Amino acid sequence: MEQIKDKITQLSKELNKHNHCYYVLSEPLISDFEYDMMMQELQTLEKKYPEYSNPNSPTKRIGTDINVHFKQMKHKYPMLSLGNTYNIQELYDFDARVKRIIGNDTDYKYVCELKYDGTAISLVYKNGQLLRAVTRGDGATGDDVTDNIRTIKSIPLILNGDDYPDEFEIRGEVIMTHDVFDKLNKEKEKIGEMPFANPRNAASGSLKLLNSYGVGKRSLDAFLYFLLGKNLQSDSHYSNLQLAKKWGFKISDNTKIVDNIEGVLDFINFWDSERRKLGFDIDGIVIKVDSRQLQDELGATSKAPRWAISYKFKAERVVSKLLSIDFQVGRTGAVTPVANLEPVRLSGTIVKRASLHNADFIASLDVRLNDIVFVEKGGEIIPKIVGIDKTKRTETSVPFKYAVNCPDCGSLLVRHDGESAYYCHSLECPPQIKGKIEHFFSKKAMNISGGESTVKALFDAGFVKNIADLYYLTKKQILTIDRFKSKSADNLLSSIENSKKVPFEKVLYSIGIRYVGSTIAKILVKNMKSIDNIINAKSEQLQEIDEIGERIAESIVNFFGDKKNIDIINKMKINGLQFEKHEEENQTEILKGLKIVISGTFKNYSRNELKQLIDKNGGKNVSSISKKTTYLLAGKNVGPSKLAKVKKLNIKIISEDEFIEIIS
Ligand code: IVH
Repeated sequence: MEQIKDKITQLSKELNKHNHCYYVLSEPLISDFEYDMMMQELQTLEKKYPEYSNPNSPTKRIGTDINVHFKQMKHKYPMLSLGNTYNIQELYDFDARVKRIIGNDTDYKYVCELKYDGTAISLVYKNGQLLRAVTRGDGATGDDVTDNIRTIKSIPLILNGDDYPDEFEIRGEVIMTHDVFDKLNKEKEKIGEMPFANPRNAASGSLKLLNSYGVGKRSLDAFLYFLLGKNLQSDSHYSNLQLAKKWGFKISDNTKIVDNIEGVLDFINFWDSERRKLGFDIDGIVIKVDSRQLQDELGATSKAPRWAISYKFKAERVVSKLLSIDFQVGRTGAVTPVANLEPVRLSGTIVKRASLHNADFIASLDVRLNDIVFVEKGGEIIPKIVGIDKTKRTETSVPFKYAVNCPDCGSLLVRHDGESAYYCHSLECPPQIKGKIEHFFSKKAMNISGGESTVKALFDAGFVKNIADLYYLTKKQILTIDRFKSKSADNLLSSIENSKKVPFEKVLYSIGIRYVGSTIAKILVKNMKSIDNIINAKSEQLQEIDEIGERIAESIVNFFGDKKNIDIINKMKINGLQFEKHEEENQTEILKGLKIVISGTFKNYSRNELKQLIDKNGGKNVSSISKKTTYLLAGKNVGPSKLAKVKKLNIKIISEDEFIEIIS
């Protein structure tokens, strides 16, 4: 038996070593085949002798297919943010402040690091083994994502050497490289899923997947940049990072220690141009005072340490050629011009299309086809054209005509006074219809399962031409669409059926009347009580309601002045949707005698709305947990002390979805 234990230890060590060589040092020592053979041998042994298995065994890096809910963990030291600047002068100010606090004749150095654009992670190691991995969360408490982190091959599960502290924390950034990101988005597009907007979203989305097997397939990577703990060897942050590198952590070779702020500026200049060659995104650089003792002296505000600052690079701007212009119609009928560009990489994604805003923008810049244009990412998601390089203009640049007719249905476009957009007002315009149905499906609206691709499939098949048609869909029809199987068809139908219980105010919002957002819908329902009252109301009567002005009132009157819309409402009425506010009748006794504590944050309802729902259904919302509590209605970020108490008293925890199911 001892022999088997030794063999398992030896194989684990070997595999850990090769992992490190491959994923951290990029210097593999053996072939993939040899590695796979060793892995198989270890898997077989662990299966046969589970008593010798270790949660940090290299075999655990594959992850499991079991869905989990993340436990909330309090950080031992809060995960602060960093002060940031785009401005060199502010770096000099930072340096002056540091000098002022530590004293003019105290020696100090700065460590310059890349600012990785991913998602922050805190790792705790005990006796050389990964104990726990927690996301930043709100800085005080985060999600325990240890199983997911184990699948990241560049994060060591067992440390090398023996000079690490018994227990310490190391922080860093989980990232996705450009290669992995491009591949992932291509796959997503192929199966009709929404691609990720950028590698940062892809990294944080992947890390939060509920099954670790899925995370493993995302090939995440991680750089570590900050050690915390009482027994660190050195007073120098830089030296501690170099030690951590020996223990097996991926510490960037691009981290540099410099003598003064001028050294920092050289580092910035270098990376401002070189960053595009890295193969992953950075959004700036981080400057840290090297000495930990001086770091303590400088201290921190409630938000950020005073011993570090980040310098952010200006939004990345690239040039490309404007090949053609498309006009896109949105749900409201607004038509937006979109540029088709020669493909160019921008902040991690390949950009082929960019917004041109509206006709005024195009006219003011005098944009012409074949122009060389400057492209930036607006809010990092939708790229936009920000200017043109007129010096590059040749005779191939030609002005173009702004759309006069709707590109989809051919109707004449209309421009209203004071608005920059042109509108298509046709009720038969396909992208508008699809957009309206998608809005109806959305979480905040009727919360029907499926998204853009489901709506497109139902529309293209000719089954759903307006929102009322959804309530006449049959399973037989749905099954004629390729992507649906019996189970997914049932799911869609039951989700549509459930939507009949959605309260009136949400139905009113879901219908998609221009200017009637969720708040206005609530106000209308509160004051008008039923759809018939709203339909029959004159503009002046609607304007008597606080917060309803002429623009909204006219839009409502116009909407219900159209017979087609009235037909749709009537069909939905026949199918049992909620078109009245039922104050008394809404009261149920489903939760009679139950005491419910609410904790955390929720996706569909605010805490206040949940309280009202408990009330409406005969239950009692109580603030603190006691023996008498029936349920803890738990959202995200429930406090750990509450959770502990609930477990101790054996009180059932229910999620928002379970709660909604109970009351419906
Ligand atoms: S140090 C107290 N170093 O930037 C010091 N952070 O904007 C805290 N980040 O939350 C962090 N690269 O997620 C540090 N080399 C680096 C970093 C880095 C990226 C992230 C980190 C932090 C955020 C603050």
